[in-house]
Amino acid sequence: MQKNNGFMSWVDQRLPVSSFIKNHLTHYYAPKNFNFLYFFGALAIVLFVLQILTGIFLTMHYKPDALHAFASVEYIMRDVSFGWVIRYMHSTGASLFFVVIYMHMFRALIYGSYKQPRELLWIFGVLIFLLLMAEAFFGYLLPWGQMSYWGAQVIVNLFATVPFIGPDLAEWVRGDYLVSDATLNRFFAFHVIALPLALAGLIFLHLAALHSVGSNNPDGIEIKENKDKKTGIPLDGIPFHPYYTVKDLIGLTVFLIVFASIIFFMPEVGGYFLEHNNFVPADPLVTPAHIAPVWYFTPFYSILRAVPPILNSQFPGVAAMGAAVLILFLVPWLDKSNVKSIRYKGSLYKKWIIAFVISFLLLGYLGTVPSNVWGQMPNFIPLLGGLDWATFVARIFTVIYFAFFILMPWYSKKDKTKPVPKRVTYK
Ligand code: HEM
Repeated sequence: MQKNNGFMSWVDQRLPVSSFIKNHLTHYYAPKNFNFLYFFGALAIVLFVLQILTGIFLTMHYKPDALHAFASVEYIMRDVSFGWVIRYMHSTGASLFFVVIYMHMFRALIYGSYKQPRELLWIFGVLIFLLLMAEAFFGYLLPWGQMSYWGAQVIVNLFATVPFIGPDLAEWVRGDYLVSDATLNRFFAFHVIALPLALAGLIFLHLAALHSVGSNNPDGIEIKENKDKKTGIPLDGIPFHPYYTVKDLIGLTVFLIVFASIIFFMPEVGGYFLEHNNFVPADPLVTPAHIAPVWYFTPFYSILRAVPPILNSQFPGVAAMGAAVLILFLVPWLDKSNVKSIRYKGSLYKKWIIAFVISFLLLGYLGTVPSNVWGQMPNFIPLLGGLDWATFVARIFTVIYFAFFILMPWYSKKDKTKPVPKRVTYK
């Protein structure tokens, strides 16, 4: 014991490890009323580390070359010892990362965790979300299957719709006139090093911002406002370690059971996690009948398809899709409510968040199916006759999606809120 202390004090004099552990774990006070929605931040960290680790092993056998990429993935699946586990961990990890992040963001939305003083924490979060989407998109090209190829083709062509510079921009992104070996090489570079580095930096800033202001909680009460007069410790706070490290282990255990069940029993999840068409090598001469992105992009893809072209240009749809993500940056300033948590908000806000969640899920579903899935509207309907039903429904829900944000200053102010208790509620 003595020897250990001696060693630790030697280290501490050179690098303050003990005081770091104290400030950020054993004496970092988190609200005592966290519920299961607070598991997802820790799970996101675990998934990030897991994606890096499995990614390193995949990179040992993968070939970023249009001639060999598809075969190298098949080689990993069939010949490399436990290669299939590593690959399924990585592909399942990608989808579950988005499940976790969507739950994490939903939690922040309903408890008003983006509100003052956590605006910067939220902004780092939205930046992480943007980069995570880019990271997943680049990764998806790497197996060089039909969906990889045609998905990339569709998405890169979206850049071509930008007025004036579009076609040049698309060519610059591709590095060629069509998606090719040059595209695969640069997507590989972005996927394995550029974006993971940027993500690691942003995650660090996200956590630094979190620890500087402290966590919000399901009541939306600032625990730092009620401190013990003698010790200065928040009355509603408990040390992060051991209380939340142990609690997070429970969440992790449940998560790992789900994760392992998917990997061992249904790694493709019916074509949602790994699309059937991606088991066919990329063929630039054969366009698949139905091109759809992976499920986590489909709400945004639906918005893209729902917005009609103007003067033959698809740009309005592309702009709407971009705006659907970028509008998240503004949420801290759109919400004018005088309370943070949904627990003390009125019925107006609750109706809007329900409408928003339904829109997001429905748009997500519609993005996975062809737009003629429900047939066309009868011709006698003025203006709309001949339009696909699915497109019509997607338009309505796109409007609701945006209305949730754009009308927020109005309904969050008008909403009848309930009085917020002084101390957190905890049973
Ligand atoms: C790799 C991705 C991410 C990681 C590793 C991560 C990690 C974390 C962790 C560990 C926490 C504290 C524990 C918790 O509150 O659950 C947290 C809190 C938070 N995160 Fe993230 N996060 C990520 C992405 C995001 C995104 C995309 C957003 C929003 C757009 C976001 C917004 C927030 C907010 C607002 C809080 C404070 C919540 C509160 O105190 O109630 N995070 N994050």
